[in-house]
Amino acid sequence: MIFDSHAHYDDRKYDEDRHEVLSHLIDAGVERVVNISNGWEDMMRSLSLVEEYPFLYGTVGIHPCKVSDLNEDRMAEMKNLCRKEKVVAVGEIGLDYYWDQDAKEVQKDWFVRQLRMAKEENLPVVIHSRDASQDTFDIMKREHAGTTGGVIHCYSSSLEMAREYVKMGYFLGIGGVVTFKNSKVLKRVAAEIPLENILVETDCPYLAPTPHRGKRNTSAYLPLIIQEIADLRGTTPKEVEKVTYENACRLYRI
Ligand code: NI
Repeated sequence: MIFDSHAHYDDRKYDEDRHEVLSHLIDAGVERVVNISNGWEDMMRSLSLVEEYPFLYGTVGIHPCKVSDLNEDRMAEMKNLCRKEKVVAVGEIGLDYYWDQDAKEVQKDWFVRQLRMAKEENLPVVIHSRDASQDTFDIMKREHAGTTGGVIHCYSSSLEMAREYVKMGYFLGIGGVVTFKNSKVLKRVAAEIPLENILVETDCPYLAPTPHRGKRNTSAYLPLIIQEIADLRGTTPKEVEKVTYENACRLYRI
């Protein structure tokens, strides 16, 4: 049983064949998927999509590159949406200095606001952090983000930082990037962090694993990621599959 902890099936790239893709995931052993919110419109599409499929779960939250979608009314609306039955986390929220250099302070404000919302609504968080490793960590420490728990999705920082997040009780989301030849640091992280702190994810439609790199990704490629993690750790894919499934159920309280 495979649990995809991070996907975006509301994305336009699935408009032609969404039902076809989703209804065949079970053939690859994928039993549960959390569909992660991005911008405001994406979030609304995602929340209606998860109503259509029993194995899909949803999140509420706005991506750091989309925080211009937010205002006070929408914050209030999000708080209500957090209470929907299939909503299992707040995210993806965080900081992204790669795509958005100018709006650092604005991003930080909305990141803090959404972290606090997660705490108030008693939900774990899904963190997006790109080229903003230290600022993300500092804010999470200051806001006591350890109390909600969560996952650092598509983990891309150092082994030392990974250990700090493990100390906070966080999970690290590992996806297609771990199969890329040049991902030396991530391969070490995947080998050395306790398996109890690892989740597998696709971030599909993006970040397809080798040998599908550059193509549209789906959860059906997760066995390739699980195999890579198992090889790096000297264990079996079965073990990685089982433990990461249990981890995701624990985090998302499913
Ligand atoms: Ni994502």
